[in-house]
Amino acid sequence: LDNGLALTPPMGWLTWQRFRCNTDCKKDPDNCISENLIKRQADCMVSEGYLGVGYEYITIDDCWLAKERDNNSRLQPDPDRFPSGIKHLAQYVHSKGLKFGIYEDFGSKTCAGFPGSEYYMQTDAQTFADWEIDLLKFDGCNSDIKDAKYGYPAMAKYLNKTGRDILYSCEWPFYNWRDNVKSNFTEVRSTCNMWRVFSDIQDSWTSLTSVIEYFVKNNHQFQPFSGPGGWNDPDMLLLGNFGLSYDQERVQMAMWSMFASPLIMSVDLCNMRQLSKALLQNKYLIAINQDKAGVQGKLKVVKGTVYDIQIWTRPILPQGCYAVAILNLKSGGGPKMVETTFKELDMNYTTKYNITETFDNEYIGTFGLDEKLIFWVNPSGVYMFTAIPATSDDDDSLKFKPWR
Ligand code: DGJ
Repeated sequence: LDNGLALTPPMGWLTWQRFRCNTDCKKDPDNCISENLIKRQADCMVSEGYLGVGYEYITIDDCWLAKERDNNSRLQPDPDRFPSGIKHLAQYVHSKGLKFGIYEDFGSKTCAGFPGSEYYMQTDAQTFADWEIDLLKFDGCNSDIKDAKYGYPAMAKYLNKTGRDILYSCEWPFYNWRDNVKSNFTEVRSTCNMWRVFSDIQDSWTSLTSVIEYFVKNNHQFQPFSGPGGWNDPDMLLLGNFGLSYDQERVQMAMWSMFASPLIMSVDLCNMRQLSKALLQNKYLIAINQDKAGVQGKLKVVKGTVYDIQIWTRPILPQGCYAVAILNLKSGGGPKMVETTFKELDMNYTTKYNITETFDNEYIGTFGLDEKLIFWVNPSGVYMFTAIPATSDDDDSLKFKPWR
């Protein structure tokens, strides 16, 4: 969507994956969807350094609404869990230097059964603008899929009419996929700033690999549409939660960077494992994710007995540079030795490249197009590097610099 927003993939935090529709603040005051949760997470987003590396949107997903609209048909938050109101909460979040996002659904009800925007889109867009909201996540439950192609653009129009800058995050292609409707990504891109392409991610390796597999099979349909202003969204980051090993967390961070995906965490930012936090804040991965050209990566080579070794490449700036991720999706056994060449990866912009390992920013060396490249990749793990055209052998002045 050409509204001047999301020029690089949006970065932030969202309640859903971790906190779901927990509305029981009596039994579980620390984890229920409430203004206290949002304020606490906003505090930690800043104090724990997430804002400093680029995460800026704090968004409430489903289950913030009261059961009914107010007497003027306006949306209202649950009065017990949001006693100070949404505008107050938005202002609190803004006072921390963050942006504030909210959730609605274009059908009659949200997925969790709260009032939807059907028949009220213009009113709701104005309410969101009055509340100083900076992002809207627009869901598609309880609606007819045939209406999606009118509903999503209608909300885009009403948001635009308010005159406020509101990043528009859509679930349109996901619901198309669910209902066997082919997405028109030209329309999706001209309507939304980011759009979910596949079903909800869950806190497990099985779920993460199902998303990657979806990209393996369908990337060609939506890869060309990703770029400044609009991004394919494979859903939230799982890092820091319960279902992934350290290597598997590295895989998600690497692939979301290769996919130029929005980096939306869903985790307790105030209680985070050090290793997960370091991955979420790894400036070299974030620099690749946020590359200004915004070209989404592609799968180049598949190896292994069950296609478990995948090599993805992504062109990054300046011209001629690449990020490369070698995935080992198999969980058993020890690290796998993977051999390739730049030629095999169709990387022939120059005659030799400098390789820098990405996670630790370790300079590896200079290699020609036919030279054998050997990498060891952990089970359910990833090896990632950047390749920069080299001028002379071992020219580490050309090491990948994220601050470029
Ligand atoms: C379905 C969406 O895909 C999820 O991300 C989340 O927003 C839930 N609905 C909320 O009910």
